[in-house]
Amino acid sequence: MGAADAKAKRPLCFLLLGPPGAGKGTQSGIIARRTGVARISTGEMLRDAIARKTPLGEKAAPLMDYGNLVPDDLLVALIAERVALPDCTNGFLLDGFPRTVNQAAALDQLVKDRGMELVVMNFDVPRAVLLRRLSGRRWCPTCQATYHLETSPSKKLGICDNCGSSLIQRADDRENVVAKRLEAYEAQTVPVIQHYEKRFPVHRVDGYRDVNEVFAEIEQYLNGEPS
Ligand code: AP5
Repeated sequence: MGAADAKAKRPLCFLLLGPPGAGKGTQSGIIARRTGVARISTGEMLRDAIARKTPLGEKAAPLMDYGNLVPDDLLVALIAERVALPDCTNGFLLDGFPRTVNQAAALDQLVKDRGMELVVMNFDVPRAVLLRRLSGRRWCPTCQATYHLETSPSKKLGICDNCGSSLIQRADDRENVVAKRLEAYEAQTVPVIQHYEKRFPVHRVDGYRDVNEVFAEIEQYLNGEPS
């Protein structure tokens, strides 16, 4: 990706951090489409494992349904296996990982072992906006495309533009589960941001703007242009 060329000669490990509903999935999708970088979303991988009823999916489902995090050892193994694939040789983009300080420590080691450059971006979005985004989100269980009833509706109500499947609300987007996910974020993921801020600047992105404006800022930052 351009960022890797502009900011570092080493392969880039690019992290998108931020609370549930901040727009990480939306932006990581755009970045991957525009740059071709390998995009790794742990939430998508877990939902796929649940749909396929794999052993990982069986363990993850009851935790995710109640807004809890899946244990670190499972996630660390999942990431290690995924980044060993050839599409990650020249760098990758992580959405949803690391989410705990233990996961961050495992990633630090992986990045060191592979001689990669770490870039971390954190999305700020007010809580009331997160709640609106999550309650209006609709999701395709077949291809994992994401929509929003107001801000990015599908062309035909309730039908995925990409594959024609019926859209649903994610089980963890119910109001009581969202509250639990936000609690987990504050308790377990905010310390990850602090973990990185002790070592280097974490770029803060105002995520409460139009999708294209947010992407423009990310692109500018990755290209090393002043904002
Ligand atoms: P995951 O799928 O990663 O969920 P999340 O981090 O809670 O993030 P979301 O997918 O809810 O939000 P997002 O920031 O991607 O926002 P999006 O772009 O979709 O994880 C789910 C669960 O899996 C976790 O709770 C946990 O149990 C487990 N898990 C995953 N990773 C784990 C890990 N590392 N360790 C342990 N457990 C793990 O946008 C949201 C909505 O807003 C959409 O409708 C979108 O269209 C809309 N929107 C986006 N941007 C904008 C904008 N700029 N303006 C207006 N609307 C917008």
